[in-house]
Amino acid sequence: MNTTDRKPRKLHVVTHGCQMNVYDSARMADVLAPLGYTTVDTPEGADMVIMNTCHIRERAEEKVFSALGRLRVLKEDTGGKMMIAVTGCVAQAEGDILLKRAPFVDLVVGPQAYHRLPELIAQAHRKQGSVIDTEFPTEQKFDFLPDAAASQGVIANLTIQEGCDKFCSFCVVPYTRGAEASRPVTSVLAEAKRMVAQGTREIALLGQNVNAYHGEGPDGKIWSLTRLLAALAEIEGLERLRYTTSHPNDMTDELILAHRDNAKLMPFLHLPVQSGSDKILTAMNRKHGADDFRRIVARLREVRPDMAFTSDFIVGHPGETDADFAATMALVRETRFALAYSFKYSPRPGTPAAGLPQVEAAVGDARLYELQAELRRQQDEFNAESVGLTMPVLFTGHGRHAGQIAGRSPYAQPVVVENATELTGEIHEVKITRANPNSIIGILIDKEKIAA
Ligand code: SAH
Ligand code: SF4
Ligand code: F3S
Repeated sequence: MNTTDRKPRKLHVVTHGCQMNVYDSARMADVLAPLGYTTVDTPEGADMVIMNTCHIRERAEEKVFSALGRLRVLKEDTGGKMMIAVTGCVAQAEGDILLKRAPFVDLVVGPQAYHRLPELIAQAHRKQGSVIDTEFPTEQKFDFLPDAAASQGVIANLTIQEGCDKFCSFCVVPYTRGAEASRPVTSVLAEAKRMVAQGTREIALLGQNVNAYHGEGPDGKIWSLTRLLAALAEIEGLERLRYTTSHPNDMTDELILAHRDNAKLMPFLHLPVQSGSDKILTAMNRKHGADDFRRIVARLREVRPDMAFTSDFIVGHPGETDADFAATMALVRETRFALAYSFKYSPRPGTPAAGLPQVEAAVGDARLYELQAELRRQQDEFNAESVGLTMPVLFTGHGRHAGQIAGRSPYAQPVVVENATELTGEIHEVKITRANPNSIIGILIDKEKIAA
């Protein structure tokens, strides 16, 4: 095959891990579309399967190898013709090991090399054996990837920053995604405008450390995230803005004030804190204390009283005692989260914490159980407190049952409204009448929009 060969082909993409992988998977499909690849929902009968992988915890990595085992059988059924590519963070971190354990994989491509996929596929077809590209090229992949083709819908993600220079003791991301790099402002604005023209009304800006954004502006100056958000807010038809994931140390006062001054910015922030113990935060190399987090939360609540928070926690990091865990629980109780993700520490090869004496597994399990029970309680409480409130809901499509429509609250809660006319892409006031564990139910205030 060469890259000008456009015979119709079927592509199946499996995505693990974070939203950035979801975004990258879509861009890989975009880069392959001109070669004749159309995406299909199952690997059966596909000419090419891309597994876009995550390396963040051990279990994520295990998933890759079990899924590859299943793909191997499918590949054998095609007489070896089906091409298998492994991309993403496992490809980056364990490319060589992967090819030893799964030699039937044709291509191993790291997150910075997706724009080279057509060339790598051509190479794999020419060559007997596997092709691997896990370099960190000097060019930025986004400058070379084609424009996003398919619309993501009313709510969309847009990657503006990649990589991380923070080197938390537990984390593989600086090794798998490389150094922090920001996309230029012009390219971000152009992509956002295209999305809005295709019907997108809410955009979440993505980055491993999105609030460290420092992209080159059209004026030749370096723009902060706050400035970028202000420029995005001027796009007509774009109604809502979010950004994720932020690091506490990059939560500038300017950005905090944007939650008051930028009318399109939602009163909702994902701000991972990981632990409530200063000793563990130091061991984690987070370079902030629990009180720094408290101050940011308090300041945001001061400038934007309806602000709500989500976070990430790790329990059982090396060195974590009962007292350290109690400090985490205290911080959680005091902050009151709308939702939060929590994980048991998983030692990752090559990271500093992996070599330290480990917390006993059963202790980690018990702490995770206790923390998750409290976080679940807080999430239920947050949803229950929505009942009786009237809030603007952005409608995204049909609900699961006939006559229902679905949307999102400013706090990213899924909202279901009964007996309404089609309102996709519109924002309407909804009075919340009921809370379920993972969604809230309401009625439209605007009587004209209620179905007869
Ligand atoms: N850039 C983001 C998070 C990236 S990973 C940040 O700075 O917060 C998402 C979450 O996975 C992290 O916030 C952390 O809570 C969790 N995580 C990362 N490495 C982990 C590990 N080795 N074991 C358990 N959880 C981990
Ligand atoms: Fe990982 Fe820390 Fe970087 Fe987040 S800030 S990606 S947790 S190293
Ligand atoms: Fe996983 Fe890589 Fe995202 S390790 S969480 S896919 S950045």
